[in-house]
Amino acid sequence: MASKAFKHIIVGGGVSAGYAAREFAKQGVKPGELAIISKEAVAPYERPALSKAYLFPEGAARLPGFNVCVGSGGERLLAEWYAEKGISLILSTEIVKADLASKALISAAGETFNYQTLMIATGSSVIRLTDFGVQGADAKNIFYLREVDDADKLIEAIKAKKNGKAVVVGGGYIGLELSAVLKLNNLDVTMVYPEPWCMPRLFTAGIAAFYEGYYANKGIQIIKGTVAVGFNSNADGEVKEVKLKDGRVLEADIVVVGVGGRPLTTLFKGQVEEEKGGIKTDGFFKTSVPDVYAVGDVATFPLKIYNELRRVEHVDHSRKSAEQAVKAIFASEEGKSIEEYDYLPFFYSRAFDLSWQFYGDNVGDTVLFGDNNPTTPKAKFGSYWIKDGKVVGAFLEGGTPEENKAIAKVAKAQPPAESLEQLAKEGLAFASKI
Ligand code: FDA
Ligand code: NAD
Repeated sequence: MASKAFKHIIVGGGVSAGYAAREFAKQGVKPGELAIISKEAVAPYERPALSKAYLFPEGAARLPGFNVCVGSGGERLLAEWYAEKGISLILSTEIVKADLASKALISAAGETFNYQTLMIATGSSVIRLTDFGVQGADAKNIFYLREVDDADKLIEAIKAKKNGKAVVVGGGYIGLELSAVLKLNNLDVTMVYPEPWCMPRLFTAGIAAFYEGYYANKGIQIIKGTVAVGFNSNADGEVKEVKLKDGRVLEADIVVVGVGGRPLTTLFKGQVEEEKGGIKTDGFFKTSVPDVYAVGDVATFPLKIYNELRRVEHVDHSRKSAEQAVKAIFASEEGKSIEEYDYLPFFYSRAFDLSWQFYGDNVGDTVLFGDNNPTTPKAKFGSYWIKDGKVVGAFLEGGTPEENKAIAKVAKAQPPAESLEQLAKEGLAFASKI
């Protein structure tokens, strides 16, 4: 079988790969030196669009409209851009074996790719209910969302099951964003999740109360404190009912599952050091294996600001880690040094006409400020997290660009907080004066 060799290979063609390609071009990569190998059939795109505008009933986003780097206000890189730069975009090609010792990757079709430097950018895969043997979880019309193909299948089902019933399993990012967009598509939506409130990874009870109230006012039913334990289907194998652990049975024409992701590290197991479920890197995204870098969702990297190793599954980090790794590759070639990655965690979400941003760390005591009444039009409220007398994290719903900048600044500066009462009273004004 054929073999090809490149100076640099990026395995995975998602957000990190696209931003890395742009940085490679900026740094002067020569035609023929770089290849991106991706399982997907399309050039790198801004994955967050898939759970938002891609699923709108009208005026939906479509490729190539959201290829990288439009999500951060940059140039849109179409397949032609890669061709012009002499970057090989090897699509619809899954790597099934990696041999880091001999610097070789092998595709499902048996092709070998050799490299001098490798960037692992394989992202995450979804956790499936079939992974835990949930009865009937392989029925038709039970969907997961990770790639554009998944979104296309969901759109077909939304069309086929017009005005039908949808059950959303999971109360995290996918659960909240998909419930909203399914409702916009006129489906009757019920959310089910095991925790006492939605998005417990980040939200406090006070934050969650706003979103749960807002969703309820939009007509979304929320069932908390239980999980889906089985599915019944019709003679065509299509899902019809969701059985809950608490004994309830929900009717369903469509089920969307968002119960978390898993970093895709399997190809490299036993060949590279791992930590906290990801591939361990330094502040330049170098792994334990020479000439091998890992970026985006798969990287467990030193989060300098908290002096701790972390993995981050969000788009801002995938973009920035990719750029940092490429800068590091060029710097090491030129015998120069660059600054270590110094990242401030930034997460966001949008659903209906809501939009929130979070910066920093969600640890310690919390105070809620502003108006979190879900019936207030254009409600604006937020939360601070306070650890060892310092504000370390900030969340804001409905902020203007300036206000969002202000909360980012607070999380970065970590100013002392006199008292929680004072902070609650000052609210956003506290951030604005930093
Ligand atoms: P990413 O998943 O983007 O890319 C990995 C690529 O590698 C894929 O193309 C995959 O097919 C390919 N691949 C994997 N294994 C391979 C193999 N063996 N061979 C070849 N190719 C392989 N974040 C945020 O901050 N705000 C948001 O609003 C959202 N919204 C959002 C919506 C949805 C639906 C998802 C799934 C995720 C988000 N995220 C998000 C998270 C964000 O998109 C995510 O953190 C980044 O896409 C991670 O970038 P990576 O490049 O690491 O992986
Ligand atoms: P998540 O970790 O955000 O949420 C998982 C949720 O699944 C938990 O909150 C819990 O409610 C629920 N859950 C767990 N086990 C369950 C069970 N057995 N039955 C019912 N519910 C169960 O993961 P996700 O929402 O699936 O998102 C997947 C990935 O995509 C993550 O990496 C996430 O960061 C990313 N993503 C991010 C955004 C964003 O940043 N705005 C948007 C979409 C997706």
